[in-house]
Formats: sequence, structure tokens, C-alpha cells
Amino acid sequence: MTPGLRPLIAGNWKMNTLVGEAVDLARAVAAGAAGSKAELLVCPPFLYVAGLAGLLKESGVAVGAQDCHAKAKGAHTGDVAAAMLKDVGASYVILGHSERRADHGETDAQVKAKAEAAMAAGLTPIVCVGETLAEREAGEAEAVVARQLTGSLPEGFVNAGGVVAYEPVWAIGTGKVPTEADIAALHAAMRAQVGAKTRLLYGGSMKPSNAAAILALPNVDGGLIGGAALVAADFLAIAAAAG
Ligand code: 13P
Repeated sequence: MTPGLRPLIAGNWKMNTLVGEAVDLARAVAAGAAGSKAELLVCPPFLYVAGLAGLLKESGVAVGAQDCHAKAKGAHTGDVAAAMLKDVGASYVILGHSERRADHGETDAQVKAKAEAAMAAGLTPIVCVGETLAEREAGEAEAVVARQLTGSLPEGFVNAGGVVAYEPVWAIGTGKVPTEADIAALHAAMRAQVGAKTRLLYGGSMKPSNAAAILALPNVDGGLIGGAALVAADFLAIAAAAG
């Protein structure tokens, strides 16, 4: 944790849940959210952002999306603009997740443009970075993340309250987690690069059993949770571990 920064526990639901499941999951998270020291955020698929933002309005649980387009509007079939997300009640948007970088070839420059669009629309961007297993084994993790941060964070990101999520690609959905020393070292390097005001989340196989230890590390200001965010009790247990 970083003194003065409220921890953020964010659930990335990815491409999961039918609408009934999404509503049940959101209701269960909201039911356990009262009194949480951490800020809670759920990021469902686009289709459910509006509905869940309405459902969660008074709950203290924020709603975000998993991507947005870099342009404000126009001829971009199938895409969603940041202003649309803001308009239906989203407050955050995850950008540059490694699955989007892999599935859609998103580059640092595109992530930066999306973050600019998000900020212009009044959304808080959560920009994801992280090395592959080959890069970690080659001793390049810190250099890769530093390069991604340089390329992906627009000017004004820090003052807009932008959030960074460190998600080692090899730890996502695998049950593998870096050592606490490795997480602390990587987060210290990110802190030196982005300064004291930016919340730095860890993501990758975070679960109730490892959350307290990870969240207690210096410069870890919350978590970006995938699989465990689909089980309300697990997500809430992780949030409770944040303080
Ligand atoms: P898991 O928690 O399922 O490893 O996913 C992490 C993630 O990618 C969150 O964005």
C-alpha cells in the first residue's frame, strides 16, 4: 500500500456472464460492499455496463468497461466510444490488457490514444502492462514494463487519477504468481517512473489465499482480479484483505 492512496479492488469479468449471472454477481458484490476500506469496481462486458451502472448506483461499487475506442465517435463499426460509457454511468475503463494486446494487436501507441480519449470523456483509465514469460526469463521484465509505461501513458495521466495495473502475462489465469520480492521490485520501479500519486494495481492469479500478502507489499495499491472476480465471496474476501 502507498500512504494516502485508497486501495482499488477491480474485477475484470472479461467475456463471461450471461445477463442473469451478471446481475446476480453485481448484486452479491454490492451486498458485501458496505464499509469496504477499498474502492470496489466491477468491469463487465460492454452490454451490461449501462444496466449494472444503474443497479449499482447507490451501492458504492463503481462500474467500468474493458476497452474503448480512441476516437470520440464516427465510422468504427462494432466499437464503443469513451463518451458512451461515461454517458451510461461508467467511471473507469481498462485499457491495453494483455489479452487485447494479443487478440487485437493493440500497441502502446494505440493504448495511449485510448487513454487520451478516456480522459477527455471523463473516464479514469486503468492501463495494463506486463511482461511475457520469455521476457521475465531473459531478465527483461522491468525494461519491458518501463517501455510500455513510456509508450502507453499520455500526458496528464497522473493528474487525471489514471491507474496502472501490472499484470505479468504468464500469471494471468495460470495460478502462477511472481514472488513477493519480484512484485515489490517491479512496483518500486513503476513507482519511480510514475510518481507518488498513481495507484499501482497487481493482477494475475490473485485470490483470497494470496491477496493479503500481495496487497501488503509497498507500492501495491490494489488488485485487478480476473477469475476470482466471478465469485462474489472471493472478490469480497480480496477486498477485505486490502484493509
Ligand atoms: P486472473 O485473475 O484470472 O489471473 O486474471 C487477471 C487479469 O487478467 C485481470 O485483468
